[in-house]
Amino acid sequence: MIDKKHKVVVVGAGLMGTGIAHAFASSGFTTYLVDSNTETLKKAEENIHAILDGGVKLGKLAVEAAETAKANLRTDAVLAHAAQGAHLLVETVSENLAVKKAVLAEAVPVLATGAVIATNTSALSVTEIAASVQSPERVIGMHFFNPVHKMKLVELVLGIATDEATVATSRAWCDAIGKTSILVNESPGLTTSRMSAMLGNEAMWMLQEGTASAEDIDTALRMGFNHPMGPLELGDMTGWDTRLSVLRYLHSTLGEKFRPCPLIIKMVAAGRYGRKTGHGVYKYDEKGQRVANSGLKANNL
Ligand SMILES: NC(=O)c1ccc[n+]([C@@H]2O[C@H](COP(=O)([O-])OP(=O)(O)OC[C@H]3O[C@@H](n4cnc5c(N)ncnc54)[C@H](O)[C@@H]3O)[C@@H](O)[C@H]2O)c1
Repeated sequence: MIDKKHKVVVVGAGLMGTGIAHAFASSGFTTYLVDSNTETLKKAEENIHAILDGGVKLGKLAVEAAETAKANLRTDAVLAHAAQGAHLLVETVSENLAVKKAVLAEAVPVLATGAVIATNTSALSVTEIAASVQSPERVIGMHFFNPVHKMKLVELVLGIATDEATVATSRAWCDAIGKTSILVNESPGLTTSRMSAMLGNEAMWMLQEGTASAEDIDTALRMGFNHPMGPLELGDMTGWDTRLSVLRYLHSTLGEKFRPCPLIIKMVAAGRYGRKTGHGVYKYDEKGQRVANSGLKANNL
């Protein structure tokens, strides 16, 4: 179904596009990376080379494999040229419906017949994006995780029109780049964001109620469930401002169980977003290192 001669075009060379292009190029596919900003495009290419060189230094990648991956990667600022004859398009431009639709309007007419049209959107409707193209059955959400070269999961998101052939080919593409895919019907927060938002919110409710200290809530999840990070540490890394906007969206779409904990609203009002502001549930020094024993306690809310 997938041939090593098949061409991939990744549109948007930001954080996610860089990782996604790296995944396809290092798996043997000629991969065109496109961005409207030529500076960003140059930086993305440098970053991909750095990931590959880092792999060689760590002994995880042969020099020849890194060189082949670099040769597989092409950067191009002209979408209509880069997308010509591609068998897979992964759109990962800014999270804006109009921008995404404009990209598809330009690229889809020049793709190979039957090509899969994938969007990496986090929260926009795959169905709505698909409605803007002539063959909505070929449109699917391909939701990657950051950093793409380390995270194995891809959520394949089915819009109302996505057909069986597109799902099967998309799963094969994920297999071909060593990712594990799961199928999700389009719904708010998909599986991962929805569960993560619920867990982070519940941890904050426990903190607010004085059930346990921040450190102990995090230790419970790390040691009791083998989570690599506790939900409060993770919220500090993601940013409670981002967490709050996701929770508000889920509350408005999925109902009461996602009502944001008042402590999150209070922390965001105080500018305690997490690592990026040096203070969230925990405090961080200027290098982003956590300051020991600084967890927010129930008695100092
Ligand atoms: N950041 C994450 O952790 C994450 C995870 C999963 C999915 N996503 C989704 O992936 C997409 C991209 O996110 P990101 O974090 O990489 O964003 P980003 O801002 O880092 O990158 C977006 C890129 O798109 C480019 N762009 C904008 N309009 C364009 C156009 N018309 N043609 C070509 N390039 C264009 C921008 O120049 C920019 O480089 C979004 O839909 C986002 O919701 C993000």
